[in-house]
Amino acid sequence: MPVIAPHSLSAAALDWAALLAWYDRARRELPWRARPGETADPYRVWLSEIMLQQTTVAAVIPYFHRFLQRFPTLDALAGAALDEVLALWAGLGYYARARHLHSAARLLAARGDWPRTAAEWHDLPGIGRYSAAAIAAIGFGEPVLAVDGNVARILARLFVIETPLPAAMAEISAIASAIAMAPEFRARPGDATQALFDLGASLCVKTAPLCTICPLGGACAAMPRGLAAELPRRAAKPARPSRFGAQFWLTDAEDRVLLRRRPGHGLLGGMAELPGTPWRDSVPWAEAEALAQAPVATTWRRLGTVRHVFTHFALALDVYAGAVAAFAAADLGGYARHTRLLAAEPLPSVMRKCVRLALAPPGV
Ligand code: ADE
Repeated sequence: MPVIAPHSLSAAALDWAALLAWYDRARRELPWRARPGETADPYRVWLSEIMLQQTTVAAVIPYFHRFLQRFPTLDALAGAALDEVLALWAGLGYYARARHLHSAARLLAARGDWPRTAAEWHDLPGIGRYSAAAIAAIGFGEPVLAVDGNVARILARLFVIETPLPAAMAEISAIASAIAMAPEFRARPGDATQALFDLGASLCVKTAPLCTICPLGGACAAMPRGLAAELPRRAAKPARPSRFGAQFWLTDAEDRVLLRRRPGHGLLGGMAELPGTPWRDSVPWAEAEALAQAPVATTWRRLGTVRHVFTHFALALDVYAGAVAAFAAADLGGYARHTRLLAAEPLPSVMRKCVRLALAPPGV
């Protein structure tokens, strides 16, 4: 257990009355959020927390609506094919989330009731400590405080934590545990959690926090010292490495394109892609070297380079186009799709960029 720093001993004394009054007045209307007086819907809360992992509220909202329309209940999701789930997830990124969501749906449907505690939620696939706490607090009123980036920032400022992230997380978690003991938090754990989410999204923002109108201004140790915008400090990040690959857009006389499925695990697991070379570190593929790995020998035309930034590396893909009268997709380790039907394929964003380039190459 981390040692609780002296300043955090007053953690439970954070001004909950002011924060909750502000939330009652200024809360965001979000499609998964219960309105005042309503009971939270566990299915919506769970789905939203999975979608919101590493993704902004604005990016999630349209996906959330589409997803709920197609899978309105837990049983609908549990009964769906993984492919359909992945296709609806395409573009949202971090596709392991969709695979885990689907397997968790099957476990939950078989179980017949909702888990109610963070500890039980944590046992399901794809649910880490943060998501488990958020779901348990918002969906079931368990008095636990989920610490995401927003909450960590707020706490680092309220209690002037000078230790840089990620090392500061030990101290921040200890404060969060102390906060969760406060009677005001325990009276409204879901609202208190979401009040902190909203505060972090609207006032206690990363750059230029709006301290003068913050409901926690009176309780904040950083504000009077003019430190709010500087906190939390961060350890210098290592530079993002580059990777390089080539993808092949192979069409037949009927305008079908060769696709293949990525392995079920790992980056973009289970998603569709254009066939291509491995993505290697540091060195771009020379044209002859890339073409030696093309699915068939034909005339290949280089269309351009697609760039995409993943969390841990930046990827540059050279896209080549070739056309043949016919190809045997299964023999080539893939499958064929008419170019008109590509919208329904579980193509991740980086592959959609390649498809866009192939369908509308610049200068054509
Ligand atoms: N970020 C993560 N979970 C959230 C939620 N339930 N509401 C708003 N932002 C969030």
